[in-house]
Amino acid sequence: MSREEIDRLRSRLQSARRITALTGAGISADSGIPTFRGSDGLWKNFRPEELATPDAFRRDPATVWEWYDWRRRIIATKAPNPGHIWLARMEKRWPSFHLITQNVDGLHALAGSRRLIEMHGNIWKTRCTRCGVVEEDRRVPLPIPPSCSTCGALLRPHVVWFGESLDPEELATCMAWLRDAEVFFVIGTSGVVQPAASFAGMARQAGSFVVEINLEPTPITEQADCSIRGRAADTIPRLLGES
Ligand code: OAD
Repeated sequence: MSREEIDRLRSRLQSARRITALTGAGISADSGIPTFRGSDGLWKNFRPEELATPDAFRRDPATVWEWYDWRRRIIATKAPNPGHIWLARMEKRWPSFHLITQNVDGLHALAGSRRLIEMHGNIWKTRCTRCGVVEEDRRVPLPIPPSCSTCGALLRPHVVWFGESLDPEELATCMAWLRDAEVFFVIGTSGVVQPAASFAGMARQAGSFVVEINLEPTPITEQADCSIRGRAADTIPRLLGES
């Protein structure tokens, strides 16, 4: 993207009042957390149907928990990068800035984002399979399989697995945020997992100016008004920073 195009986008941002951003694993890749697809992606070495479905958990909860515990150990050593930090700053600068993430790593909240929906859940939370209580649990490593401190039943990760529905209220809020946005950012997502994969198209139909930030082209690219090739951790500060 040329300097001129960046300047045009920056002036559009200056005058916008309502901005929404959707993020995926690419933003946390810059903090050292593996993505799902791509050459080093988790789904190259692990099979989602054995680790991230309700059936897999019913068959073998310990194996599923081992995998989540391994991911928690990696994430525990990582910190928010300038991409997360600048998105958190946007809340202060724009009265109506909202953030939707597919990431479960909790780094946006750690960076300070509050008007945030973690649509696929949070790897630092557990949910009881019997009483449904959701709790934050930052133990690393976890006793496997972990059990509920209230009723003693098996806990599961408070994340959304393949074949499960998103929280309907959260989804409705995401829809409202994306339809309302004058500018809609799509950052570091491969754009193949629904429903997030449809958000850019919906936002555009509702009149948003859609900006994609990614290392490579994706199915979102052709729906975007503007596509920026680059690392999220460099590009977001470049767009939003003072210089
Ligand atoms: P993916 O791993 O599918 O895609 C990551 C995207 O980030 C790719 O398009 C990369 O090109 C891009 N990318 C990588 N590094 C980047 C960087 N430094 N800066 C900018 N972009 C970069 O991850 P998601 O799209 O988030 O769901 O995956 C969506 C969902 O699929 C996940 O939430 C997870 C997974 O299965 C569940 O587990 C339910």
